[in-house]
Amino acid sequence: MAQLWGGRFTKETDQLVYNFNASISFDRKFYKQDIRGSIAHVTMLAASGILTDAERDLIIEGLNGILTDVENGVLEISSKYEDIHSFVEANLIDRIGDTGKKLHTGRSRNDQVALDMKLYVRDEITELKELVKHLLTTLHGMMKEHIDTYMPGFTHLQKAQPITLAHHLGAYMEMFKRDYERLCDIYDRMNFCPLGSGALAGTTYPLDRELTASLLDFSGPTLNSMDSVADRDYCIELLSALSTIMMHLSRFSEEIIIWNSNEYRFVELDDSYSTGSSIMPQKKNPDIAELVRGKTGRVYGALISLLTTMKGIPLAYNKDMQEDKEFTFDAIDTVKGCIALFTGMISSMAVNKKNMEASAKNGFTNATDAADYLVNHGVPFRDAHGIVGQLVLLCIEKDISLDELPLSEYKKISPVFEEDIYTAISMKECVQKRNTLGAPGPNAIKKVIDINEAYLAGLQ
Ligand code: ARG
Repeated sequence: MAQLWGGRFTKETDQLVYNFNASISFDRKFYKQDIRGSIAHVTMLAASGILTDAERDLIIEGLNGILTDVENGVLEISSKYEDIHSFVEANLIDRIGDTGKKLHTGRSRNDQVALDMKLYVRDEITELKELVKHLLTTLHGMMKEHIDTYMPGFTHLQKAQPITLAHHLGAYMEMFKRDYERLCDIYDRMNFCPLGSGALAGTTYPLDRELTASLLDFSGPTLNSMDSVADRDYCIELLSALSTIMMHLSRFSEEIIIWNSNEYRFVELDDSYSTGSSIMPQKKNPDIAELVRGKTGRVYGALISLLTTMKGIPLAYNKDMQEDKEFTFDAIDTVKGCIALFTGMISSMAVNKKNMEASAKNGFTNATDAADYLVNHGVPFRDAHGIVGQLVLLCIEKDISLDELPLSEYKKISPVFEEDIYTAISMKECVQKRNTLGAPGPNAIKKVIDINEAYLAGLQ
């Protein structure tokens, strides 16, 4: 047992209590951030005249030594320490002697852990943004390739109207653009430095909190020492944004699973992203898409867990807050893995244009266009809807499509129909004439592709 606070105790901590209380098994994950924060802290202490420059240099050298040794595997983060803060401080004292004992001047583990967690979350947001950006770039490339890949658009998973694959992918592009922006917003909102807040009530030392904040690339220091040590809103916001990313990935995964099924055959997942069955030799399963869909539950779980943990905690720091870490770490790692794998899976899958197009042609996806044809010839829309409904029923009885129904049959139901109905309801025509911004027509899609091209170029 190695802890920082033995002075006022007369008995050793019970081993079970010690184990229950300790956080080293998971907060070791932010050893880098802990050391970075400590370097900024002593730099500020020296600039404020609280440490000498020589003390500062000795401490920084010691901290950098710990960092290098941990990274090279020379120094193991041992679980005999209560947490990562104790580990770093004890090692520093071992290395440089009594000067190491000055590191914690004007600091509490409460503001220290608040800082470490913020630094960690900030670094992870940067990585998450990169991954989402890569997914967006991949989708953008696929959109450009599939402007004239026709497919059915669905409502209620029933064929509705013909669209293109570019248009379908464009819907996910919008979702992931919003996800990207949510990550940026969270970063900006959380980017205030809590260090210098002490345990809850600041300190009596003349700390220069602006300096610490700027050394660590924060927009500035936080404004209330109690909120600083008790705020985990940014973790909750991140978990909420990650849950939304997973919700989007899960919807997309579900579609890929359907498209890849034997019944649809719209796409074929690459062998490198599929798995087999131990008993059925013919099987090639979309396990990656299923796992992404499945892992959504665990990210939602993290969000609900942390919201529940934080509920009802009185100000300021309480040990409950130590529970923020495992949920947040696990959700971040899960989402990073899912985005990376999902991107690889969609960029390597083969698109079966022929099957998509054939499917778009049947299922009466052009019925709305037949009604629009009548409207353009002066029939009120409600009547046109009824006429086309009758035509569809007739086709179902004859087991043919609207394109195959002879003009004489059309005319029996409405004399307004002429030979040009066949062009008006041709599947490609139906798509090509939908060119209002946001629609699947090629001109509309090209405009969106240009907008997205500029959007991607502008991402930091
Ligand atoms: N391991 C603790 C946590 O993660 C660090 C802060 C400890 N502070 C305290 N007052 N016990 O929250």
